[in-house]
Amino acid sequence: MQQTLWQHLTLCAQGDPRDALHDAALAVCDGQIVWQGALRDLPAAYADPLTWPREDLGGAWVTPGLVDCHTHLVYGGQRADEFAQRLAGVSYEALAQAGGGILATVRATRAADEATLFASAASRLEALLAEGVSAIEIKSGYGLDLASERKLLRVARALGERYPVSVYTTFLGAHALPPEFAGRAEAYLDEVCERMLPALADEGLVDAVDVFCERIGFSLAQSERVLQAAQRHGLRVKLHAEQLSHSGGAQLAARYHALSADHLEYLDEAGVAALKAAGTVAVLLPGAYYFIRETQLPPLELLRRYEVPIALATDSNPGTSPATSLLLMLNLATTLFRMTVPEVLQGVTCHAAQALGQGERHGTLAVGRSADFAVWQVESLAELAYWMGRPLCTQVVRAGQTVYRRRGYAEERQ
Ligand code: NIG
Ligand code: FE
Repeated sequence: MQQTLWQHLTLCAQGDPRDALHDAALAVCDGQIVWQGALRDLPAAYADPLTWPREDLGGAWVTPGLVDCHTHLVYGGQRADEFAQRLAGVSYEALAQAGGGILATVRATRAADEATLFASAASRLEALLAEGVSAIEIKSGYGLDLASERKLLRVARALGERYPVSVYTTFLGAHALPPEFAGRAEAYLDEVCERMLPALADEGLVDAVDVFCERIGFSLAQSERVLQAAQRHGLRVKLHAEQLSHSGGAQLAARYHALSADHLEYLDEAGVAALKAAGTVAVLLPGAYYFIRETQLPPLELLRRYEVPIALATDSNPGTSPATSLLLMLNLATTLFRMTVPEVLQGVTCHAAQALGQGERHGTLAVGRSADFAVWQVESLAELAYWMGRPLCTQVVRAGQTVYRRRGYAEERQ
């Protein structure tokens, strides 16, 4: 039995700093939290330092491990040249229509082997993990044929095996129409629904299914075909919805009890009401909003009024959000969307876990749960949204084991 008492910490167990517990302790046995509370209330059972060796965190803040609930982390190449074209005035949609955008990354991804894809995704993942991320969603969607989608999902699974992070995979075969199916969307969807999804689900590579429901992606009716196929396989769904235009995607997502509807800049009140009724999480992606210089803000006031849980994620991808920092998303969501500090913190903890259907496993620290937490050298948790690009996470603990510790240069040299 391995037992540790983590003490002298400021505990933010639910992701809301208003409920913080000062001078707290966590008793962890074999990776599980068996007690948490104020140190002065520590039961005698955990007080003997011989059986409960202590780790003193010197007053540092502790939050649940962060959850990045929407990423396209695995892909070939990058699109900095396209970024330069956009700076010169070409729109994201125009690039996509000219065979660039997602399809440019599809070409690079198809040409790359698993080892290359693993190495490039791993370097992005390492940046996220150093910020306290302990669970991440990774979508496919840059392969667009069975073998290439399989390659992406296998790399995603391998990342979860090789790094101390829980990886949840999402099949996004309906991300774009591959060139060999140009003008034949329905035939491609036959392939997605009848061949790719069944095969990949059978191989245990798919935890959820997503569709890019958009003018430059798939229509409502086309998206619905994919959601129905997911349902037939007993898989939960998500939807890229209302990102570049209003389409009614949020209502469609709600009808299929989606875990989340994501992006949502063009969401209207009927869509908000539908998300609320279905218990679907609204995932906002401020990195994409910022990077494509969107000006339509997601309807924060409506989401608040209807009490829809709001999550935040990096949307890490080469086209609209080349982001490898979840903390930067907190900064963007506060400044651009005027979200509050408690909202953004819950957005990357409990609500993000809910967006993955993993609310019982991630995003909250409680007795009976795995001891997955991040340690922050800050005076106030507002600093997580305040600093831009400053490393604040000093230690990451997963199942009671320290899996990351940030050392300063001085310490490194000793
Ligand atoms: O989440 N919207 C669709 N997919 C990505 C962008 C993909 C790309 O441009 O490569 C997104 O924004
Ligand atoms: Fe996305």
